[in-house]
Amino acid sequence: MTLDDAFNPESFRSTGHRWVDQIAGYLDRAATGQEMPVLPFTLPAEMLAGVESDFPSEPSGDLLARIETLIANSNHLHHPRYMGHQVATVLPQAALVEATNAILNNGMAVYEMGPVQTAMERRVVAYLSEILGYPEDADGILTHGGSVGNLTALLAARQAKAGHDVWTDGQREPFAVLVSEQAHYCISRAVQIMGWGTAGAIAVATDDEFRMTHEALRAGYELAEQQGRRVLAVVASSCTTATGSFDPLEEVAAFCQANDLWFHVDGAHGASLAFSKKHGGRLTGIEHADSVVWDLHKLALMPALVTAVLFREGRRSYESFAQEASYLFESVDSEFEWSDVGRRTLECTKRGMGVTAFLMMQTYGTRMFGENVDKLIDLTQHFAVIVDETEDFEIATMPEANILCFRYKLTRCGDIDDLNRRLRDQMLRSEEFYIVQTQLGGTTWLRITIMNPATRLHDLEQLLVRLRELA
Ligand SMILES: Cc1ncc(COP(=O)(O)O)c(C=O)c1O
Repeated sequence: MTLDDAFNPESFRSTGHRWVDQIAGYLDRAATGQEMPVLPFTLPAEMLAGVESDFPSEPSGDLLARIETLIANSNHLHHPRYMGHQVATVLPQAALVEATNAILNNGMAVYEMGPVQTAMERRVVAYLSEILGYPEDADGILTHGGSVGNLTALLAARQAKAGHDVWTDGQREPFAVLVSEQAHYCISRAVQIMGWGTAGAIAVATDDEFRMTHEALRAGYELAEQQGRRVLAVVASSCTTATGSFDPLEEVAAFCQANDLWFHVDGAHGASLAFSKKHGGRLTGIEHADSVVWDLHKLALMPALVTAVLFREGRRSYESFAQEASYLFESVDSEFEWSDVGRRTLECTKRGMGVTAFLMMQTYGTRMFGENVDKLIDLTQHFAVIVDETEDFEIATMPEANILCFRYKLTRCGDIDDLNRRLRDQMLRSEEFYIVQTQLGGTTWLRITIMNPATRLHDLEQLLVRLRELA
């Protein structure tokens, strides 16, 4: 194939038609979950050995055959027995938007490189801000993932609360944030990227339900003072990764207000509860947060990655990267202030990620996103009650979201942690379910996150059956 052939629309058309059939066929198989493993079990070295290492200089083989191999060796998030990490089971039609985006490749750093993409992103940001209960002058951006999003928010927190222009002058004293001991590791990573060291993220103890307490916040604050560190911010989790626990946002807000701290909510997973009338109450108090991170590729059915970083006072969104690039950006006062999104993102070029969220919400309506949240959480809570009533399993805590930690608790001899590690390993090898494990207070738990609206109670009951057989 020549370069000209590769750009020929006819060749794209014929492959594209076959591709649509291929993906629809895959979705059919995945939905029934009957004849395919959830995650084919292959060790990394074996997988690497099976992937070509030489890149031929001339055309070779068929793209769709290669896509088939790609699909076969992937983790199948559309399989009803996928219940592992918190990555969305994507709305299939989102793939059509993503493919269009890939062709357009509008890079968005400046308005002209993504005009309608920039406008759609702004509408998505405004809608998400509104359903969180933020005021009208809230603003924000979309970025590539919760980890980058949390870093972006914490950079703004530093600039706003340091008392001097850290961005320009560097840091004059040691700072810290208070963060739940259960928070996602990307928070301490962000703190370390900012140069505050490991001691810059002060772990706040949690209660039996894995939520930060007021007393522990106070103790963390005092510890920072003893260590000669100035606390700039508190990071609350809505919800935590391991157990899906929601920190008490009203209390954290009051603590931040009393101590003049930035209040950040890592809502990467749980902010999507704002779509739900039934479960949205868990987020009460989020409207007081100075900033919120929200991953739409978790509970909002979007393909990875698309993360909103929202600021209650919109102007704060310019403080994360208080930097000018004169060859790119117009004057700060101009119309281009909001429309050159690269001014406010870590990325220069970025995917037109708001387009997919915008078109899916416009086309399908936002109610469906709430239905999805309700379905996933209701099923998780229902299953937790069933597990809690068994004699051989226990749950870590009653779930507030779609995440459940539980474990087999009977052993004739041996260690319960070892047993549950073995169960997870055998389940992985069986290829029947994809579940994960986590450590809570030094003990091992099986962990499921129900992400697929096609998962049924029957699938979960079968999970218990299989675990019992393996125990
Ligand atoms: C609470 C929380 N914050 C942040 C992240 C990181 O998000 P991302 O994987 O989009 O970088 C995760 C990922 O699971 C998470 O659960």
